Parts: sequence; C-alpha cells; structure tokens
Amino acid sequence: MATRNQIKEYWNKQARLQRPGIKKIRIVNEKHDYFIGFSGQGGTLKDPRLRDIEIETLIEHLPRKGRLLDAGCGNGYTTTELLRKIPKLNAVGVDYADEMIRGASKRVARLKGISGRAQFMTGDMTDLGSMFDCGEFDIIVTVRSLMNLESWQAQKKAISQLARALRQGGLFLMMEGSLQARGCLNKLRSAIGLPPFLGVWHNLYLDEKKLLPFLSRYFVIEEVISYSSTYLFLTRCVLHTLRSPKKRWNYSHPMFRLARQLPNEGQCGFHRLFRLRRKKTKKI
Ligand SMILES: C[S@@+](CC[C@H](N)C(=O)[O-])C[C@H]1O[C@@H](n2cnc3c(N)ncnc32)[C@H](O)[C@@H]1O
Repeated sequence: MATRNQIKEYWNKQARLQRPGIKKIRIVNEKHDYFIGFSGQGGTLKDPRLRDIEIETLIEHLPRKGRLLDAGCGNGYTTTELLRKIPKLNAVGVDYADEMIRGASKRVARLKGISGRAQFMTGDMTDLGSMFDCGEFDIIVTVRSLMNLESWQAQKKAISQLARALRQGGLFLMMEGSLQARGCLNKLRSAIGLPPFLGVWHNLYLDEKKLLPFLSRYFVIEEVISYSSTYLFLTRCVLHTLRSPKKRWNYSHPMFRLARQLPNEGQCGFHRLFRLRRKKTKKI
C-alpha cells in the first residue's frame, strides 16, 4: 500500500513538472486551438477533452453563487475554470502539496476578474478542523482527490471532515474514481479482447458498495452520474482495438474529437459524480 507521504511527494513532483512556461503543448480542440502547458489543464489529467467534460458536468450541477471549497485542488485549474464560468462564486482551494498551491496561486494572479474571488491554502483534507469552521461552505467539490488518499480509512476521515465544513443543506459534488464504473468499462474491454485497466499505484478507487452507505450518514444522495461513458467507450475501447497499444497516446486522434461530440450514454467510466446534499440534522 502506498503511504500518504509517497503520494504527496508524487504530487509535489508533478507540480514541479507543471511549472508555467516549462513546456507548451498545442492541442487542437473542436472549438478552437489552444495551448496547454504542463501548467495547464493537462496537469492532473492528461486527456484535455475529458477535463473539459469534467468541468462542464460540474458547472451543470453547481449553484450560480456561494462560497465553495475545492478540496485537493491541485494546480487550481478546476477551481479557476469554475470561477470563470460562474461569476458570483468565490472559492477556497486546499491541497496538501505546497508546490501545487504555489502553482495555483500564480495561476489565479494571472487571471483577470478572478483573483479577488479565489484563495489557495496548503492543508490536508483529512484534517480540516483547524482551518475551517463548522458549516463554513455552501458548496464543496472534490475532483479526483479522495481517490488519491492511501486507504478507505483515510477516505472516510476526509469525507467526514468535508461534511463538517459544509453547511446543512449545502451541496457536495464529489467527482471520484468508482470501482463499479471502471468495472463496467473493463467488462467492455474484456469482451473485445483488451486487458483491464487496473489503476495507477497512487489511486484507490472507491467501492460504491461501502461508499454509498457511508455517505448516507451525512448526505442525501441526490444522484450518481456517469458522465464520460460514451467518451471512454470510444477512446479507451474502440480506439484501442484500432491502433497498436505500443503507440504513444495521441489526443489529437479524430476519435477523441468524435467521442467528445456525442451525448453520454451508459454507466462506464473511471469516475462518477456523486451529487450529495448535506443532511439537516446530523452534528459532526
Ligand atoms: C488528481 S489531482 C486532482 C487535482 C484537482 N482536483 C484537479 O481537478 O486537477 C489530486 C490532488 O489531490 C491532492 N491530495 C491528495 N491527498 C490529499 C490530502 N490528504 N489533502 C489535500 N490534498 C490532497 C494531491 O496533492 C493532488 O493535487
């Protein structure tokens, strides 16, 4: 099992690789060409269109105003994109990798109209009690951060800390790795002779059989959403049968563009969005 320090060191190292201006990559997207550095959206998820899908999905579910906590905010890309699209939100981003926080602070300083609405702080999401008051936030998001905790024990601790920081009736959008969603994708892969995705060493996918009963202690589970099923079926199943697995990933392949245009159908994926409403009664 990976330790918390090993995972933290991994993310600090990623942050160093993502420093603004180190390297620029040109990505052609269906709407426009844009550059992403490793400082950019690719930092914590390499597939830029999957990143776009994540942000669009979050925006669809977010209220139009309020105080938001982005727990495990990484380089702040998600946080700043949400603020860019929703002008009445303000946000606090927390991450235990201080080099990520340094990068996020630099990012926000460069963005007009957002810098006054975002603050980034170093902190561990399993220990938020000393940083935030009970019920301080209207909204909490986690994007692939709980799945970077070392154990189910630590994941449960973080979830309770987040529930404490969220006001009663507040919204928690938890976008995290799901064992069941990945199982569904692997079933399709297996049917066409592809090996399963097992996940990288620092990820611990959440098992919904344990997760959902635990979540319902603090939250009403409003919806569990698979938002990237079609996209991943086409790019991680169909495309893999058409090209040699030895070839390097090429996100400019037309299949990515096609997959991005299609509406979502099905329950597969790596991640799911758990839309959770903080229960009104339970004290933590
Ligand atoms: C996959 S990245 C996602 C970053 C960001 N949410 C995004 O959308 O790009 C996971 C992040 O979780 C952070 N993280 C992992 N465990 C944490 C913890 N215990 N407390 C705070 N941050 C943590 C890592 O440092 C890393 O930046």
